[in-house]
Amino acid sequence: MGKWVVCSAWPYVNSVPHLGTLIGSVLSADVYARYLRMKGENIVFVSGSDEHGTPIEVEARKRGIHPKKLTDEMHDYVSRLFKEYGISFDNYTRTESPVHKEFVREFLMKIYKNGYIFTQNIEMTYCPNCKMFLPDRFVVGTCPYCKYPHAKGDQCDACGRLLDPTQLLDPKCVFCNTTPEIRETKHWFFDLPRLSEELEEYVKNHPRFPANVKKFSLNWIREGLKPRALTRDNEWGILAPFPGAEGKTVYVWFDALLGYISATKEYGENIGKPYLWEEYWFDKNSRTIFFIGKDNIPFHAIILPAMLLASGEPYVLPWQVAATEYLMFEWEKFSKSRGIGVWIDEALEILEPDYWRFALIEMRPELRDSNFTWREFYRIVNSDMNDDIGNFIHRILMFVYKNYDSTVPAPSRMEEPDLEFKEKVASACRSVEENLDECRYKLALENIVGIAREGNYYINLKKPWEALARKDGSADTTMWIGVNVVKALAVLLSPITPNASRRIWENLGLEGDVLEYPWRRAGEMDIQPGHKIRSPPKPLFNKLPENFIDNVQSIIDEARRKVFRPAVLA
Ligand code: MF3
Ligand code: ZN
Repeated sequence: MGKWVVCSAWPYVNSVPHLGTLIGSVLSADVYARYLRMKGENIVFVSGSDEHGTPIEVEARKRGIHPKKLTDEMHDYVSRLFKEYGISFDNYTRTESPVHKEFVREFLMKIYKNGYIFTQNIEMTYCPNCKMFLPDRFVVGTCPYCKYPHAKGDQCDACGRLLDPTQLLDPKCVFCNTTPEIRETKHWFFDLPRLSEELEEYVKNHPRFPANVKKFSLNWIREGLKPRALTRDNEWGILAPFPGAEGKTVYVWFDALLGYISATKEYGENIGKPYLWEEYWFDKNSRTIFFIGKDNIPFHAIILPAMLLASGEPYVLPWQVAATEYLMFEWEKFSKSRGIGVWIDEALEILEPDYWRFALIEMRPELRDSNFTWREFYRIVNSDMNDDIGNFIHRILMFVYKNYDSTVPAPSRMEEPDLEFKEKVASACRSVEENLDECRYKLALENIVGIAREGNYYINLKKPWEALARKDGSADTTMWIGVNVVKALAVLLSPITPNASRRIWENLGLEGDVLEYPWRRAGEMDIQPGHKIRSPPKPLFNKLPENFIDNVQSIIDEARRKVFRPAVLA
C-alpha cells in the first residue's frame, strides 16, 4: 500500500468558483483521491481557501469591507459547495488557520537560517493617489515579454511568466487608474538562483512531469531564475517572521504553497496524530500529486520544490504536477464581470452534481484548452449518460426483474458473443486503470462509456427476449454477464459519479458501499447466480428536455435568481 498526499490548488475565495476552477483543480483531484482510495492506497487529500494576497484585498476594497470578513463568509460558502459536489477532502482548511500561519512562519525562518533569504532595497510601484505600494494585482499593464495588455504585476495571464510590477509597460493602479510612481522599499528575497542547478536537474530528469509542465519550467530556468521578493508592504497577510521585517507580510504564494503541508499537519492534529504529516512528507516512498491550472505551473514545479530544498528537511519533492489547460465557456473566457460562464453554485440549481462531474470530466482540458458548450453538455447527458450508460443498466436490470423474478440466473454455455463481450470488458477495465493512473480522465471515461455502448450492442446481438422462448440458456448467460458488467460500471464510475454509483449498487441489491469494493475486482464476474437485485430497479439518470438548448438562457437566469450567496457578495 502506497502513501500519497493528493493536493488540489487552493482557490482564492474572492469570488465563487466557476466550472473551470472546479474541473481545473478540485474535481480533478477528487477523482484521483477517490480512485486511489478504492485501490486501497493510504492517502490524505488536502486543500483550502487561499485567503491572502492582492486578489482578496482588491475585492474587499472594492466592497469597502475588511478582507477577513470577505474570506470568513466565502470560506464557509465555498466549503459547503465543495461538499455538495462530493469533493472528498480529508481536510479543506484555510490560510487563516492558526496551524497554517504558525507553520509558514517557522518554515520561512528555517530557510532564512539556511541562508536562502537576503534583503534588498528595491524600486516599487507606488500610487500617489491611493498612497500605497502597488505590488502584484494592485497594478496592471502590458507584459514586457509577450505584450499582452492586461498583465498583472506578478504574472502575465497570456504567457504565464512571473513578473515584477516595475517591469510592466504602461502600468496603472487598479483602484484609481493613476500611473504609479517608483519608490524605494526594503524587502526580503528568496534566493532562487542559488537553487537553479538543482531545480534544473529535478525538472529535466523528472520521469512523470507532463509536457506542459516540463516545457514551461525548463524555459523559465534557462531564461535565468531571479530572486523573488518574499515580503510585501500590505497589511493583509501572514506577518513576515524575519528580524527587522516588522510591518511586512509574506507574499501570498510563499504562504499558500505551504498550505499543502500545514493542512496535512492540521489533519493529523484533528485526529490526534500530531506527527502524522511527517510520515506523508518526509518518507521517500510517499508520493505527492498536485492538481492545478496551468497558470500555477511555475509555483508548483519550481517555487515549491525550491522552498522544500531550501528548508534542509527531508521533504519529498512533487511526484506529479497534473496541470490542466483552460476551460473556455462557449469559446470565451469565463468572466465574472461580464457574466460569461456558469458558477458552481448556480450549476447546482440546474442539475445534480453528478451531471456536472461527468460532463466536466468529458470536457476536461487535458492537452489543450477545451470548451464548455451547452450543445456538448446536452449531448453528454442525453447520449453518453442516458442512451449508453443508463440505458444499458436499465435494460439488464429490468429484464432480470421482469423475467427472472429479480434473481440472477446461472450462466449456461458461453457463445462467441458472450466471450467476446467479456473480453472487451476486461480489457476496457485495464485501460480505465492505465488512463486514470496517468490522469487521462477523458480517455478513462471514454473507456467506461465504451463498455456500456458495447453492452447495448451485445444485448441487441443476443436478443434475450427471443432467446428466452427458446429455453436454451442463452438469455441466462446474457443476464449473468450483464449484471456483472453493471457492477463493473458501478465500480469504474465511482470516482467520477459517486452518487450514481451508489444508486447502481443499490439497484444491484449489493451489500455495503461501492466505495469499499476493491477496485481491482471491477471486471470480475463475481455476482453469483441466485443473487437478488432490487425490485423494481430505478432509472439512473434523467434526460434533458429537447428544448433545453433553446431555453438555456432562461434556465441560467432562473438559477441565478435562486442562488443564495453570502451577504458580502450582495
Ligand atoms: N489561489 C491560487 C490560484 O487561484 C492557487 C494557489 S495554490 C496553492 O491561482 F497551493 F498555492 F495554494
Ligand atoms: Zn491608485
